[in-house]
Amino acid sequence: MLVTGKEILVPARAGHYGVPSFNTNNMEITQAIIHTAEKLQAPVMVQMSEGAIKYGGQDLANLVTDMAQRASVPVALHLDHGSSYESALKAIKMGFTSVMIDASHHPFEENVRETRRVVEAAHAMGISVEAELGRLGGIEEHIVVDEKDAFLTDPEEAVRFVEETGTDYLAIAIGTSHGAYKGKGRPFIDHPRIEKIASMLDIPLVAHGSSGVPADIIARFRDAGGEIGDAAGIADEDLQRAVQHGIAKVNVDTDLRLAMSVGSREVFRNTPKEFDPRKWLGSARDLMSEIVAYKLKMLGAAGKA
Ligand code: G3H
Ligand code: 13P
Ligand code: NA
Ligand code: ZN
Repeated sequence: MLVTGKEILVPARAGHYGVPSFNTNNMEITQAIIHTAEKLQAPVMVQMSEGAIKYGGQDLANLVTDMAQRASVPVALHLDHGSSYESALKAIKMGFTSVMIDASHHPFEENVRETRRVVEAAHAMGISVEAELGRLGGIEEHIVVDEKDAFLTDPEEAVRFVEETGTDYLAIAIGTSHGAYKGKGRPFIDHPRIEKIASMLDIPLVAHGSSGVPADIIARFRDAGGEIGDAAGIADEDLQRAVQHGIAKVNVDTDLRLAMSVGSREVFRNTPKEFDPRKWLGSARDLMSEIVAYKLKMLGAAGKA
């Protein structure tokens, strides 16, 4: 069933499990997400960025909402990193049940103003809202507190931000970053900061940049002819600990991008004469489904639908 983000994330925060929100750009990615969630009886979120909307438009949004409506588990369609009020409104008109307004790069008061506008409009239509406070980016463990405070989310500010905006869930900067290069070795995650923010706010918290960038997938990517540098992702233990403390929505895009590429590349490498798209897209979909299943179990969402 197609539900709002709040219907999925409020129980997740209360039940101390994490719900992955996977980015989609086409049918095979969407099937891997939703069909695997059904198989594991897990709630799940599917998100489209503005880039995904540009790429797939209403066709892709309809594909997701149709599959969600027919699914046996709760599924939300979420706008990832909406850059403006207009963008959020457009997504709501397209059938999204959750929207992110990301004005985190603006000064605090402007972030509040833009977020509050979106909250008022979205709530009038029964749609949930995610906002962001703080700046994403990898940080080193040894950095002094003052420097961390310069861009990681400040707990007191987070409380004021939620009071003034009425956002339903809040993305916080805790040391994660987008993409396949999140730092050397095991990226530092500021767990005390998560605990502090969660102790002061009872709404669901969101972690962006939460891909694991698994070493075996990276090795297979290289084996199949791909080129990639010093890739690193967030450790499972860090995500599990974050979820225990109040992170309810865990954003994953990079891991499915990598899995999709590996699944396709392996078919091209192993069977150079193959040109039936169902073979390489099917292999891509199978490997993405494995990743989705792994995340749903690892974050504790499996069995929670
Ligand atoms: O955080 C960004 C997501 O990974 C989406 O990326 O804007 O290239 O679709 P995209
Ligand atoms: P990753 O790049 O770690 O997959 O993060 C995705 C994300 O945060 C989308 O909003
Ligand atoms: Na998001
Ligand atoms: Zn993000």
